[in-house]
Amino acid sequence: MTAALRTQVGIVGAGPSGLLLSHLLHLEGIESVVLEDRTRSYVEERIRAGVIEHGAAALLEDAGVGARLRREGLRHTGVNLHFHGVNHRIDLVDLTDGKAVTVYGQHEVVKDLIAARLAAGGDVRFDVKGVAIHDFKGTAPELHFVEQGQPKKLVCDFVAGCDGFHGISRPTVPAGELRFFDRQYPFGWLGILAKAPPACDELIYARHADGFALLSMRSPEISRLYLQCEPDDDIANWSDARIWAELKRRLGGLATEGPMLQKGITAMRSFVTEPMQSGRLFLAGDAAHIVPPTGAKGMNLAIGDVRLLARALEAQIKRGDGTKLDTYSTTALRRIWKAQRFSWWMTSLLHKFGDETPFDERRQFADLEYLVSSRAALASLAENYVGLPYDD
Ligand code: APR
Ligand code: PHB
Repeated sequence: MTAALRTQVGIVGAGPSGLLLSHLLHLEGIESVVLEDRTRSYVEERIRAGVIEHGAAALLEDAGVGARLRREGLRHTGVNLHFHGVNHRIDLVDLTDGKAVTVYGQHEVVKDLIAARLAAGGDVRFDVKGVAIHDFKGTAPELHFVEQGQPKKLVCDFVAGCDGFHGISRPTVPAGELRFFDRQYPFGWLGILAKAPPACDELIYARHADGFALLSMRSPEISRLYLQCEPDDDIANWSDARIWAELKRRLGGLATEGPMLQKGITAMRSFVTEPMQSGRLFLAGDAAHIVPPTGAKGMNLAIGDVRLLARALEAQIKRGDGTKLDTYSTTALRRIWKAQRFSWWMTSLLHKFGDETPFDERRQFADLEYLVSSRAALASLAENYVGLPYDD
């Protein structure tokens, strides 16, 4: 092993959580090193979510990484619910005293953050292998990894596990220390990216008798569309013609056909880890929790976590005040559980579970009818959709 490297915060994973944490720490004058096992082009091109909450967009702007988001992101002041063949527009701005969401791909956020880190001389290492976290119960945790065939050791003051749901950080914590809350859903989402102008300039969430569908977009030329499918469905069962026919049926015809740039199936799951800390190892983003994508909360929760974690690390490292670090997990989990509730609720409202009794089915549509007829109910949806306030 070569001589040990040293940093204040070792970060595992260069997704939105790891990169934004590194950037926010840099703004506070705190050093970090980000270790990512994929290549830069892989993380910059990985298509993920695309709706940014009001507060998350403001945070990115305030942190100086929002210029392209402001220029190229699509500000959406409303979303639509479609059922029984009728479209109901929900005016987010009106219902939330002026708040909206921005449609801007997660991989664009990732590109902006990587560019900002590299421009500031930040240390982001891609394509490193075998990252392992050691001694996180002590005061000098270490990250061991292999870079271009060379074993390396990074000694840190703190470690942030930002390596997503399949990363190594969460499983590194000894069994029994963490409690997991898990719910799997009996359906998946078949998602496509198509070179076609979206048939509506705002998102449409549809509950059709045959299941859920969603019209979203990445730009005025690129549509992003989803369909509820079987959880273990094979994409080979879905020809382009079958996908378009199903989308059009469920979205009341609102799907413009065009060449498919990408298609894939994602499972739907709700998952929470408690606590989000073990010794000097702190978990953030998908490493600690995942939501079904119906509420568009995944990336927004990751941003909320690292906002808190950066503040807590700043208080500890610069002022010797460990209060915020001690309460990081409890504070983060309060907001995370509210987003879990919202994501579960949107998912329950809009999908066909397959085991509904005729009573359940009528009740589900009554929920939708009630929602679109009640300003109070719509205001609740809207305040969650644009993002609940951050706790301090
Ligand atoms: N070593 C280093 N890096 C790793 C490892 C590992 N062992 N395992 C995973 N990673 C990297 C992944 O390649 C990925 O780039 O960690 C990063 C984790 O990023 P995300 O999965 O994007 O998670 P996060 O940054 O928390 O962002 C959450 O991502 O999946 C979406 O819906 C989710 O929008 C949400 C967002
Ligand atoms: C997306 O554009 O990918 C998207 C939008 C809204 C969601 C989920 C995904 O709820």
